[in-house]
Amino acid sequence: SARTLATTASRSSILRRGYSSESVPDRKVAILGAAGGIGQPLSLLMKLNPLVSNLALYDIANTPGVAADVSHINTRSEVTGYFGDDQLGKALEGADVVIIPAGVPRKPGMTRDDLFNINAGIVKGLCEAIAKYCPHALINMISNPVNSTVPIAAEVFKKAGTYDEKRLFGVTTLDVVRAKTFYAGKARVPVAGVNVPVVGGHAGVTILPLFSQATPKANVSEEEIVALTKRTQDGGTEVVEAKAGKGSATLSMAYAGALFADACLKGLNGVPDVVECTFVQSNVTDLPFFASKVRLGKNGVDEVLGLGPLSDFEKEGLEKLKPELLSSIEKGIKFANK
Ligand code: NAD
Ligand code: LMR
Repeated sequence: SARTLATTASRSSILRRGYSSESVPDRKVAILGAAGGIGQPLSLLMKLNPLVSNLALYDIANTPGVAADVSHINTRSEVTGYFGDDQLGKALEGADVVIIPAGVPRKPGMTRDDLFNINAGIVKGLCEAIAKYCPHALINMISNPVNSTVPIAAEVFKKAGTYDEKRLFGVTTLDVVRAKTFYAGKARVPVAGVNVPVVGGHAGVTILPLFSQATPKANVSEEEIVALTKRTQDGGTEVVEAKAGKGSATLSMAYAGALFADACLKGLNGVPDVVECTFVQSNVTDLPFFASKVRLGKNGVDEVLGLGPLSDFEKEGLEKLKPELLSSIEKGIKFANK
C-alpha cells in the first residue's frame, strides 16, 4: 500500500543518514546572523546536534562560505546557506526553531542598551519575516539588548496576529553557564554537577543569580556570594574588555545558545522534564517579561516555574532590578509600536 511504501521510504532515508531509530523526528533549525562571531561557532555546534535534520544558515552576507564549510561535516543535518533579504523566506520556511544572533556587539564602555538603536530595527525586520514564513517556530532571541528585543518580537508577532507567548524565548543561558563556572571555582566542587538558577533579565543588575539555591551546597561566605553575583552580572563586560574592541562573547555564547536550542528541540520531541532558565512572558513577578526556570514541552513553554525561596540579598536584588528591567521592556514595546 501507499502507506507501506511511505514507511519504507522514510525508513530507508533514516538508514541512509546512519540512524537506527525512527523515533528522531525531522527538525529544521534556522540561524539568523549565521556568519557572525556567534553565528559561525553556533552553526558548527548545531551541525553536531543529532536532533537537527535541516540547518538553514542566513545572514546578510558570507553565508555561502560558512554553509559550504559546515556542510562537509559528516553528521545528520543537511546544511543550506541563504543571504540577502530575498532569501530570508526560504531560510525560514518550515523552521521548528529560529535562533537569532543577528546584530552588532558591544565595544568597551558601552552598555547593551547602547546597541538598541541598531539592533531593534534588525530584530523587528527579522521577526516580521518569521511571522510570515514560520509563525509556529520557537524563537531563541540572542540579539542584545535581550531585555528589549524580546518585547519587540512579541509586539511584531501581536501585530501580525501570530503571537504565542509559549514560543518566544530570550536566551539567558550564558548567565547560567557563567554562574555555574564561577560558583564551582569558589566552592571547589566539580563544575559538571553544578546547578545555579539565574533569573530577571540579561543586562547588568537585571541578571540575578540565585546562589542560595546553588547545588551542590558548599561553604561559600556571604562576601563570596556578593562577589560571585557581581562577577556573573559583569560577565559580559569582562569579555568585552578583554576583547578590547573586537566584540563580545562569541564562543561561550555559541555554547550556551546550542545548549538552549537543544533543550527546545528536546521539549518539542516530547522529552520530559527539560528545564532551562530563559526570559519569557511571565506572571512570576509584576513585570510582563522575566527570566526564570521554564519547563519546555511540545509547544514551547510548558510551565513557567516560580522563583523558590530567596535569601535577603536576593530579595533586595530582585527589587533593585525591577525599574531597569521594566524600562527596557517598555522601550522595546514603544519602539515596535511607533
Ligand atoms: P557579529 O557582528 O560578529 O555578528 C553579527 C552578525 O549579524 C553579522 O554576521 C551580521 O552580518 C549579521 N546581521 C546584521 N544584520 C542582519 C540582518 N538584518 N539579518 C541577518 N543577519 C544580520 O556579532 P556577534 O558577536 O555575533 O553578536 C551578535 C549579537 O548577539 C549582538 O547583539 C550581541 O550583543 C549579542 N549577544 C548576546 C548574548 C546573550 O547572552 N544573549 C551573548 C553574546 C552576544
Ligand atoms: C554577554 O553577556 O556576553 C552578552 O550579552 C554580550 C555583552 O554585550 O555583554
